[in-house]
Amino acid sequence: MDRGDEYWTGNVGVITTLFPKVQIHARNTVAVVVGPPVMYRFVLMELLGKGIADGNIWFSFERRMKCGVGKCGHCQMHHIYTCQSGPSFSYAEIKHLEEAL
Ligand code: FES
Repeated sequence: MDRGDEYWTGNVGVITTLFPKVQIHARNTVAVVVGPPVMYRFVLMELLGKGIADGNIWFSFERRMKCGVGKCGHCQMHHIYTCQSGPSFSYAEIKHLEEAL
């Protein structure tokens, strides 16, 4: 269980619980998502729900990389090598790739 120490007065828990508290202007917002892959799909749903455009939602796929030079194939998502073309992609670029999210 996540929890802060005795001095922590901030939020604790999964990031998606904070979205209802955030007021944004979707047309002027760019989101960058970096963290545990398990959260990506849930954060994406929240960002789309806020009205942020597919091209303004960015994900880092650096965790998929191993050799970093296009040799091992560890980072491959369909025809894309993350280490060669990324490691960051907009949702518009990867939404059609089943293995991305
Ligand atoms: S990290 Fe090895 S091919 Fe991309």
